[in-house]
Amino acid sequence: METKVLKASKNSIKEAAKRLRAGEVVGIPTETVYGLGANALDVNAVRKIFKAKGRPMDNPLIIHIADKKDIKKYTKNAPASLDKIMDVFWPGPLTIVLEKTDLVPKEITGGLDTVAVRMPANDVALDIIREARLPIAAPSANVSGKPSPTKAVHVKSDMDGKIGLIIDGGDCEVGVESTVLDLSADKAAILRPGKITKEMLSPYVEIKSVVENVENSATPKAPGMKYRHYAPKAKIVVYQGRKKEIVDEINKDIKANTFKGIKLGVIIESEYKDNIDCENVYDIGSELDEDEVAKNLFSTLRKLDEDGVELAFIPVFESRHIGKATMNRLLKAASYNVKKVKEKI
Ligand code: TXA
Ligand code: MG
Repeated sequence: METKVLKASKNSIKEAAKRLRAGEVVGIPTETVYGLGANALDVNAVRKIFKAKGRPMDNPLIIHIADKKDIKKYTKNAPASLDKIMDVFWPGPLTIVLEKTDLVPKEITGGLDTVAVRMPANDVALDIIREARLPIAAPSANVSGKPSPTKAVHVKSDMDGKIGLIIDGGDCEVGVESTVLDLSADKAAILRPGKITKEMLSPYVEIKSVVENVENSATPKAPGMKYRHYAPKAKIVVYQGRKKEIVDEINKDIKANTFKGIKLGVIIESEYKDNIDCENVYDIGSELDEDEVAKNLFSTLRKLDEDGVELAFIPVFESRHIGKATMNRLLKAASYNVKKVKEKI
């Protein structure tokens, strides 16, 4: 199958909608990452998503809507806090999990009785959904296990020959996937950290738990979190400690590995890049700007692969706000391969 990439425009949005109505899968931009969209109510279309991604069928998809009221069609038994939460955070990078109605096929929910819904804050995505007049099921548009795509070229590289159309809406603003908030149980929980943090949600709903590392829990609530994720081919080491000592330690490890004949890389903030003695240094943005680091994370991880880096050294990043989500994804990409660097006194 030929995979067309079209810049977002009135015409290309119409074509995307037409293809979605015909049961095809289309790559679409959102403010977080690119999604692989299909008609959420068409079981055959939904199956095509799983096939294109190589995704296990028990890992449920998010339904994307363009009108807040539509959440009532697909979910039931919502708590009183829902309306206010939608008012404040939608459209935006917040996914809400609730009990599903019969309209929602089990193929989307991986057999669960709950469903995840979100209204993206991206005009192209909203226009496509409105033009198609359909709820759109969409996981991130990467091959299962790879870093999520934040540019149309990432989608092209993962989905070439597997889908017919990708709409290029430019670079994704946020860069990490939406926060997943579970409101289906008595105790509200964040199942995946994102730009909308616990602190931001707390005035509206009491968050009982934040799942940071679901791999370690026996029964993961967000099924997707149990799989290896976001990983480039390179082996990654994440350094924990103070930046000054981390920089020294990374330089030491570069020296120690230089003669092994493997390609090394370092991903680090702008402030430190000139202190690193390595051929491949990737600037991920300023340590003073957590949003910028989050936005650049996945594309920088993909650059490691593009350049054939085999071993990459990466420090912990600032994680007060969205940085928590950045670190959550980075640690998964590194399969929790962490080196603790001692403080020097
Ligand atoms: O930002 C995003 O959320 C992007 C864009 C495209 O919207 N989408 C995305 O989808 O990240 P995906 O499929 O890659 O991740 C969805 C996450 C998975 O961890 C999945 O397990 C969880 O949401 N999820 C979906 N339905 C769920 C449910 N009913 N209960 C618990 N977790 C659910
Ligand atoms: Mg994903």
